[in-house]
Amino acid sequence: MGGVVLEIDLYGALMSQFKRAKKEYEIAKEKKNESIAKKKALECAKLLRQIAKYDEYNEKRYLEKAKKWELVANNIEEVFNPSKANKSKSTKKSGPSNKPSSSNTTEDEVENEIDKFKNFVKNNLIQKSTIKWEDIGGLEEVKQLMMETIVISALQKPASIQPWKGILLFGPPGTGKTLLASACAGSLEATFFNVKASSVSSKYYGESSKIISALYDVARELHPSIVFIDEIDALTTKRSDGISEASRRMLSTLLTELDGFQDKGSDRLILTLSATNTPWDLDEAVLSRFSRRIYIPLPDKKATKEIIKINTKGLKLDVNLDEIADKCVERLYSGRDLKNLCQDAIWNMIRDVNKDLYKMANLSYKELKRRKLKTRALTDDDFEEAFKKIKSPLTKSIIKKYEKWKEEFGG
Ligand SMILES: Nc1ncnc2c1ncn2[C@@H]1O[C@H](COP(=O)(O)OP(=O)(O)OP(=O)(O)O)[C@@H](O)[C@H]1O
Ligand SMILES: [Mg+2]
Repeated sequence: MGGVVLEIDLYGALMSQFKRAKKEYEIAKEKKNESIAKKKALECAKLLRQIAKYDEYNEKRYLEKAKKWELVANNIEEVFNPSKANKSKSTKKSGPSNKPSSSNTTEDEVENEIDKFKNFVKNNLIQKSTIKWEDIGGLEEVKQLMMETIVISALQKPASIQPWKGILLFGPPGTGKTLLASACAGSLEATFFNVKASSVSSKYYGESSKIISALYDVARELHPSIVFIDEIDALTTKRSDGISEASRRMLSTLLTELDGFQDKGSDRLILTLSATNTPWDLDEAVLSRFSRRIYIPLPDKKATKEIIKINTKGLKLDVNLDEIADKCVERLYSGRDLKNLCQDAIWNMIRDVNKDLYKMANLSYKELKRRKLKTRALTDDDFEEAFKKIKSPLTKSIIKKYEKWKEEFGG
């Protein structure tokens, strides 16, 4: 590896510096400290000019805003003595002194823009998670590690003890990566941000980096937070198909956030989990931020039995579970395959004992609600039929590839 040059997109970091500078400007203004206010206004302008470079779509607007801040800086006397200038009353902000309309517009516009993205995040990327640790079969070590991480971040501790901020989950499809992230959020009752990297970067092309920056703003606001970035490989530069400009920007904002540039020394829990089926596609920039990389393998026999039990809850199992589990392991079934297998077996049972089920379709919903679905224990035959339908897309050599990557980069 190596040789990957990633141009860091500082949009998020700059935006937060801008917000800070603006706040400092306001404080200086309240304290009637003209020289500091002027310095801060110039800093705001400078930062907006830098931000403009990272946002070709809104470049002009940021440059205009920068000009307005320069105007504020150059007319700082008027700002401090509004009586000298024409009287433009600020209606929105209450404060000891009035702001000239020019600076107000700038501030409001930037704030509106930030709010727009934060609202987008709040309305689209937050999910309610009701998944608990018990819903996950196997993966004992992983579960323990995640529970520890969460506990450490909540406990009072010396500043030198820092919990993991970023954890990468890698492994074949359907092994429980998304489930683990949901369980983290569910058990903590944390705000759960579920982001599919590829869909954000393609759907919100040009805005994806702002969405990520807003996402972490909201995550800090609504902590404890679990940020789950699925398919992180879609953002990485090592992909042979190349990555889009949008993905590149989104990734660099994400990396900046992960560096904790804006949140040093805070004990708010904001844990970023990412997942991939193709860890070998990840470049160093990503790997270095996710120093904890956990392999989520196919379930072994014990885990397979647990997952079957979880997915047949409420039904009796009149089967040779050991034999079924052996067969599943041999066929390289993932948790998702096991879930489908159980669903299928359950259907076989339902059809067997409710022969004329479809005929009830002409009954009213009210009438149907009064009747009960017949069930019986699941048998080996139900599973035998189901086995015919479920085929794992995996091969032993793919599994070897994961194991090899784990040996080299996991940990
Ligand atoms: N360890 C497990 N315990 C219980 N159920 C599981 C487990 N692994 C997978 N499943 C079942 O399979 C479904 C899919 O799992 P999940 O979405 O977590 O897989 P994933 O690893 O995120 O897959 P992908 O890589 O394709 O995104 C789950 O909703 C669950 O029903
Ligand atoms: Mg998933």
